[in-house]
Amino acid sequence: MQDIAWKVSIFQILFMVIVFIVIYAKSHIVAPVDGLAQEKTRRSLFIVLIAMGIPLAFHTLADLPYAVPDRTGGPVQVVEAVGRQWEWTLSRNTFRVGETVEFRVTSADVNHGFGIYDGSMRVVAQTQAMPDYVNTLRHKFQTPGKYTILCLEYCGLAHHAMSAEFEVRP
Ligand code: CUA
Repeated sequence: MQDIAWKVSIFQILFMVIVFIVIYAKSHIVAPVDGLAQEKTRRSLFIVLIAMGIPLAFHTLADLPYAVPDRTGGPVQVVEAVGRQWEWTLSRNTFRVGETVEFRVTSADVNHGFGIYDGSMRVVAQTQAMPDYVNTLRHKFQTPGKYTILCLEYCGLAHHAMSAEFEVRP
């Protein structure tokens, strides 16, 4: 997915560079302005963009790498999770496979992103950690092992070092 995003970005950047070069090369030509033709071009481009954008957004947004949040009822294991520059504090750090864990995520200072990664560093669930607000994130862990919490929102100098671990036991 990242590879595709990278290639698409490079393609778009190159395309924009070419557009700028062509415009710069033609900038000395004084052309008569045809307002009606310009309006028509703008309208067609807008329709093309919408026609391309809606299916593209539909296709890519349906494929977000986050697990669907668990909204089922039943008993939950509640964990208080607090982010601050630059660490995470968890009120528990061991769970069992199959139990629903409810993370109550907040922040003691600025906005952070609470991202849970599995052993192969794939995002399994995420939410925002916001000051004076508690976000509830429920997840049922099906695979035992070590999980890592990373910060998903730039929050200052040591943002990259903001991590914590917990364990899911069989
Ligand atoms: Cu906390 Cu980035």
